[in-house]
Amino acid sequence: MNSNEVEMQKEYIKKIYEINKAKNLKYYILTMGCSLNENDSEKICGMLEEMNYTRTDNMDEANFIVFNTCCIRENAEDKLFGKLGEVKKFKKQNNAIIAIGGCMMQEKHIIKKLKESYPYVDILFGTHTLHKLPEDIYNKLSTSQKIEDILDIDGEIIEGLPIKREDKLKAQVTIMYGCNNFCSYCIVPYVRGRERSRKPEDILKEIKGLASEGYKEVMLLGQNVNSYKGAENYGFAELLSDVQKIDGIERIRFISPHPKDFTDDVIDVIAKYEKICKSVHLPLQSGSSKILKEMNRKYTKEQFLNLAYKIKEKIPNVALTTDIIVGFPGETEEDFADTLDVVEKLKFEQVFMFIYSRRVGTVADTMENQIPEEIKHKRFDKLKALVESQIEENNKKYIGTIQKVLIDGTSKTNENTLSGRTDSNKVVVIEADKSYIGKLVEVKITEDCLWYLKGKLANALRK
Ligand code: SAH
Ligand code: SF4
Ligand code: F3S
Repeated sequence: MNSNEVEMQKEYIKKIYEINKAKNLKYYILTMGCSLNENDSEKICGMLEEMNYTRTDNMDEANFIVFNTCCIRENAEDKLFGKLGEVKKFKKQNNAIIAIGGCMMQEKHIIKKLKESYPYVDILFGTHTLHKLPEDIYNKLSTSQKIEDILDIDGEIIEGLPIKREDKLKAQVTIMYGCNNFCSYCIVPYVRGRERSRKPEDILKEIKGLASEGYKEVMLLGQNVNSYKGAENYGFAELLSDVQKIDGIERIRFISPHPKDFTDDVIDVIAKYEKICKSVHLPLQSGSSKILKEMNRKYTKEQFLNLAYKIKEKIPNVALTTDIIVGFPGETEEDFADTLDVVEKLKFEQVFMFIYSRRVGTVADTMENQIPEEIKHKRFDKLKALVESQIEENNKKYIGTIQKVLIDGTSKTNENTLSGRTDSNKVVVIEADKSYIGKLVEVKITEDCLWYLKGKLANALRK
């Protein structure tokens, strides 16, 4: 069934290729969401390129424009509506096909708004029908009708779609889809469906293929990676230990684990194997046990602290990072103080901070005690100041140390320097020859700036 579906879509790809082959057609893609969304976009790009569309970064020359949307917070949704205003003129100018996919398309009120106010959009496709994009495009080309291809039920796992990756060194690999947790603030379970894990053999085959193409790093992706279940007695710990056996892959990262499922076997595997980065993203959300209960996170402040201490003890020099939401309904100054307290205690390497955003259809949206915007912003600023002072302090600890850095290219601000990341995912900038790009090197850290570190090649230092 699964492979039949892919074969059928490949037939559509061939048919569209025939229609497109003599034309010099271009596509423009904008990805608005998380890493899972980015990985979906890589599949969209893979399919489009096989249909003979080539990528452009200029929307004004595109014949096919696709937005891969996100609805995690209100500002993500605003982004789409901003872009849709812009796109209208290209529709007229190039007769471009406009397609919108991704998480927002699973929301009924959004589809209604799009149909009513943006009639020039041609194709709407959801998270469960991404693989059917070739069929949707073919139908659009052959009938000129508007296409709406959205399913409410969980899609099957589709293997073997074409893929065009963004990076040549680091690859993202989705290991599971969906989420079962229903944190009360979060839209993801509604738009991504229930948890579905890929088979271990499919994941391992994909990563072996990546290694043979020269990839050095893989990022395993899922909304809750540590509830990965590949088979009876085969969970996330087993998957990690199998991935690290693959020759050529030098680094393994993963996001996001859920604290409630962080079992000892996973901690032990991270501690044991060199290739698994000593870096753990452990989303806290709030430091108040009362708020955590309202959020349906299934752990208390103390349980979170104990887990973090255990990870720090078992994995020496581990870098912990986290996500925090401020201004959840009912959050008092005392609750917020608990959040600051956890941050003080754990000294995270990085904190991704979010202002609570009401999401239609979630439990928290119906709670009465919503926090005024002004208070949310004040708390956010206070947390940000604490986090920045901790990062500054933390960066100093790196000075004089030798770090393993995977050099991924020239630095964004200066063509003459190279940049890469440490095991703990810190950006490091060095002055070195471009031949080091793609190599894992030892760097001695010499200087700290807030968002990155500077260093020198350690082997050059030894000379
Ligand atoms: N599955 C991941 C998170 C995915 S969403 C996990 O559980 O860690 C990424 C982050 O967005 C969440 O960790 C949370 O901090 C934030 N987030 C989710 N819904 C939000 C909302 N309604 N308002 C503000 N931030 C939100
Ligand atoms: Fe959302 Fe919670 Fe699932 Fe993460 S675990 S995706 S925050 S419902
Ligand atoms: Fe956004 Fe969907 Fe990811 S809502 S955060 S793109 S799973």
